[in-house]
Amino acid sequence: MTTQTTVPLLDLTEQYRVIGPELEAAALEVLRSGRYILGDTVERFESAIADQLGVAHAIGVSSGTDALLVALMALDVRPGDEVITTPFTFFATGGCLARLGARPVFVDIDPRTYLLDEAAVAAAVTERTRGIVPVHLFGRCVENTPLASIAERHGLWILEDAAQAIGARDSTGPAGGLGDFGAFSFFPAKNLGACGDAGLITTNDADRAAAARRLRVHGESSQYHHQQVGANARIDALQAALLQVKLRYLPKWNEARRQNADRYQSSFEAAGLSETLTLPAGDDGGHQVFHQYVVRAPRRHALKQHLAASGIGHAVYYPVPLHLQPCFADLGQRPGSLPESERAAEEVLALPIYPELGTDRQDRVVEAIAEFYRR
Ligand SMILES: Cc1ncc(COP(=O)(O)O)c(C=O)c1O
Repeated sequence: MTTQTTVPLLDLTEQYRVIGPELEAAALEVLRSGRYILGDTVERFESAIADQLGVAHAIGVSSGTDALLVALMALDVRPGDEVITTPFTFFATGGCLARLGARPVFVDIDPRTYLLDEAAVAAAVTERTRGIVPVHLFGRCVENTPLASIAERHGLWILEDAAQAIGARDSTGPAGGLGDFGAFSFFPAKNLGACGDAGLITTNDADRAAAARRLRVHGESSQYHHQQVGANARIDALQAALLQVKLRYLPKWNEARRQNADRYQSSFEAAGLSETLTLPAGDDGGHQVFHQYVVRAPRRHALKQHLAASGIGHAVYYPVPLHLQPCFADLGQRPGSLPESERAAEEVLALPIYPELGTDRQDRVVEAIAEFYRR
């Protein structure tokens, strides 16, 4: 049987239809300028996004992965250092630690929010621990205050993996402005997406910002002079120009995602599904930005098949927690080591939430799920 996807998980062409002319004008300006790496366009973007996010410094880089990597280099992460993080995340969170020779220490998540469990973090600190990498997964911020008190007690740094949380806040401040550094991704599917790869490092500390700026250009202190080894991790001027156009729309897009989430909540309640499915925890003061709308679904495998046959886009983020990835086997964790992360990996399902989804398509998602559970 062939099926047509009638409701995609994400459709970026709809966004392009609205802002295409602005994007094309911004791209042409860069093409005609002859200045393609860093320069004024990047500086203007960095200053606009720092203001909008409410952070002192923003440093454009080549991807979210490189944002993590360069921030970790600026924090002087070394082989053998232990860094506490979540296994229920995209690979880059743990991969960047391993690339620098550090030991990712994966601890379990809070089953309600899917975020790093602060008690598990406190219990994992050893004398080799240097830092904590909380991940603001699916657009919800990890509450920073409890982590900050653990960090202060033990002299640790905090690097926020804010790749999925641009514009989100915890109860005290903005994602990317809570820890020592924040790392954002502008992968096209993100709430603020480039037309290719790009990322951003944020910090409120001028010295840390200067270190990140050096490290994104091979650790250059001045041209061709290196006191440190860095990376080629610069953002393209073209991406910065396109992102600057999109930045103006971000608050509206994030609000549309929140409204879609509210509408799922009331539609699933009306369909009698709010007990069957576990809907996203909502009590964060409305500060999350729903990069993904993720439910726990009984009989997930069969539901996925039903949705595929009904043409409803969906995805599993993430099917294998990092502590069970073969490349991390030598860390010594096994199935059963981190039960909440493993249970989440088996149960979660992401549904379409993009800003342009619209009520008709959203109703079709809810109807298809209701039909499955009525059987
Ligand atoms: C939680 C998380 N961390 C890091 C990244 C890496 O970002 P990028 O794909 O831009 O390298 C992503 C996105 O893909 C992510 O979702």
